[in-house]
Amino acid sequence: MRLLMIGPPGSGKGTQATLIAQHYGVEHISSGDLLRRHVADGTAIGRTVAGCLRRGDLVPDHIVMDILRKPVEAATRRGGYILDGFPRTVAQAEAAYRVAEPLGTEVRIALYLTAGRAELIRRLLARGAQTGRSDDTEHVISHRLDIFDQSAVPMRDYYARRETLISIDGDRPLAEVTSTAITGLDRARQQLGLPLHHAPVQRGVGRGIDVDRATIYR
Ligand code: AP5
Repeated sequence: MRLLMIGPPGSGKGTQATLIAQHYGVEHISSGDLLRRHVADGTAIGRTVAGCLRRGDLVPDHIVMDILRKPVEAATRRGGYILDGFPRTVAQAEAAYRVAEPLGTEVRIALYLTAGRAELIRRLLARGAQTGRSDDTEHVISHRLDIFDQSAVPMRDYYARRETLISIDGDRPLAEVTSTAITGLDRARQQLGLPLHHAPVQRGVGRGIDVDRATIYR
């Protein structure tokens, strides 16, 4: 199972990726969590990207590709992954495809979560108030949503043309979104001739890295 989760900030990519990864017994890799971990740890990459994260700007492609390479390769060897937050642009999608295609590890399915702007803002402001995540403020949320909107149509077209794209209304109760996603994924995998069996759920395998999110939100 190799799956990409695409959707605007607050659409539930991270939440659903965790649950879907647990269901299939694969790893959840989040580009945002990896970047926030670098910032929290004060690495050279963290110092470079801190401003982008604070402002809600996209981090340069080469940095994102660089931090994702090892976790994605390792997860591929261990049976697969759900990648949340990557790609953000068609340029990133094409770059990833160029790396994966010769290795036969390209992603075949992308899951696209949607929700209305007012609901997205409500969720993110609520999370900001609860966790203090530094980009969950009104001004930065609005900027993040605008950035997403600029790439949304080309990204959807890209995946609809090249891979199987599953679009899901994320503005419903959490469990309902998860079960719709799993039904859609099983159907898509059957159509693509991908094996349907999956590893038994293992506790603690839901995330590719051991992240205590509370420490990386600030
Ligand atoms: P990232 O961490 O990926 O943030 P994001 O895309 O803005 O997404 P969020 O984490 O805010 O939302 P989500 O869709 O994951 O929803 P979640 O499940 O958390 O990226 C952060 C930054 O890193 C970017 O701005 C950029 O600077 C950089 N970056 C990352 N990847 C990059 C890339 N590829 N290229 C360049 N730069 C990159 O849910 C949100 C809230 O809603 C939660 O409180 C949750 O409990 C709630 N919720 C979820 N589902 C439901 C539901 N169904 N009903 C009610 N509430 C719900």
